Amino acid sequence: MPPRCDQTPAWPLLQDHAAAMRHGFDLRQSFAVDPGRFTHFSQEAPHCFADLSKNLWDVRAEELLLRMARDCGVERQRDAMFAGESINATEGRAVLHTLLRCPRGAAPRALAHQAQQVHQTLQAMLDYAERMRADAAITDVVCIGIGGSGLGPQMAVQALSAPDGTSPQRMHFVSNVDGHALQPVLRRLKPRSTLFIVASKAFSTQETLTNARSALAWFQAHAEGADVARHFVALTARPDAATQLGITTCFGLWDWVGGRYSLWSAAGLPIAMACGAGAFRALLAGAHAMDRHFASAPLQANLPVRLALLDVWYRNLMGFSSRCIAPYHASLRRLPAYLQQLEMESNGKRVDRAGRPLDLATAPVLWGEPGTDGQHAFFQMLHQGTDTVPLEIIAVRRPSHGLPGHHAQLLANALAQAQALMQGRRSEDGHRHFPGNRPSSFVLLESLSPEALGALIALQEHRVFVAGALWGINSFDQWGVELGKVLARDLQPRLASGEVHGLDASTAGLLQRMRA
Ligand code: F6P
Repeated sequence: MPPRCDQTPAWPLLQDHAAAMRHGFDLRQSFAVDPGRFTHFSQEAPHCFADLSKNLWDVRAEELLLRMARDCGVERQRDAMFAGESINATEGRAVLHTLLRCPRGAAPRALAHQAQQVHQTLQAMLDYAERMRADAAITDVVCIGIGGSGLGPQMAVQALSAPDGTSPQRMHFVSNVDGHALQPVLRRLKPRSTLFIVASKAFSTQETLTNARSALAWFQAHAEGADVARHFVALTARPDAATQLGITTCFGLWDWVGGRYSLWSAAGLPIAMACGAGAFRALLAGAHAMDRHFASAPLQANLPVRLALLDVWYRNLMGFSSRCIAPYHASLRRLPAYLQQLEMESNGKRVDRAGRPLDLATAPVLWGEPGTDGQHAFFQMLHQGTDTVPLEIIAVRRPSHGLPGHHAQLLANALAQAQALMQGRRSEDGHRHFPGNRPSSFVLLESLSPEALGALIALQEHRVFVAGALWGINSFDQWGVELGKVLARDLQPRLASGEVHGLDASTAGLLQRMRA
């Protein structure tokens, strides 16, 4: 098993260096003495450019981090993922979301069988999407699915259909088991003009099954004999379970693709419905370009690696416990939520791969909102709060709307926030004083094209992978979500019966109050 980051010879050196930097490093000074700082800490990658120079690190920190990454065998671990080794050890599975965007004929020979299945399913799913897009009788598509079966498709549909809405149908997303989510959607629809997409890899997720059952019941009650097979489609690794529920039209998923990594598979049908087969293939191509970059660029020029090194530096050596994401593009409004699952479900772990408790911190809290909305809400805390929160700005150079003036204002605001965080502003009045020296990264996309979005998502996936590899954890399981599900199954009948035997006093008291 490769060593964890805190077991490498570079670790104590990094600790010493971080201690010195915490007290003595000033970004403004660093730019003043080093005219090459911007160039050194910038990185070109497919479809994007990243400026990492306004971060609280220097060349020595990065060199030590790179040494640490080599000692952790990051390259070997990366290659093992691409090769389809069973790196998700707790579930005994390979991790092959990169295969989903691998062009025909380009997959490793050992994965030829899986690659063939991928391309067959992809073609069938895209043909279906095009057929349904052309079906004038269908005006609305309701996508039911949660977590990885909901967030990614919803985020991508919003990102790619704005602002003029390329989707021939109205797209609706329902994830929450709360009836307040599904009912208002159904109220506006006619069964005969609605297509329901039920996405669930396991097809046992309570929220999704409850919503699917209610949708089916509504459909059967109002559609006067209309065909379920035409109006419901399941995206799942368990077509048998879908059939049992009454849904026979299915596209397959595989156990070697985790839910939060699945938007590239048939789980991406909502994206193909909203944006078309061409856009979906472009999304895959953008992600594949980032895969090639990740797989082949040397570590010091590898953007996912550099971002992950910064993540470990901040989390473990500088002691920052959260990271803020601010996409400066209204259509990326679900990106923070999507990244929360990607990062916190992947790397929110407390034991290493061998199951031993870790004595180092793992995933930070990820949070955020689109700029400029966030500026008028929580940016106050970023500028003058007591915590240092690294900010990640994601901006897009070319807008896809035609309104004059807006985009320059938006970009100026993005630049200004990064500048203000770094520069600060002196004042004798403590209330008006901005300390500055606060970190930010800046990722710039040329446009919010499907290719660029694909590359951006793959960039984030690989960055999470590298951080997990450095921490020595399994980034691909999610046992932490299980316990709550089990307890909810026990509590649901108790809400009806009022039986509180064996419950703690707080749960029992709340349950009785809910029944009263
Ligand atoms: O409960 C967490 C989780 O398992 C996620 O990992 C997953 O993305 C989500 O639920 C939905 O799972 P499924 O696609 O199997 O319904």
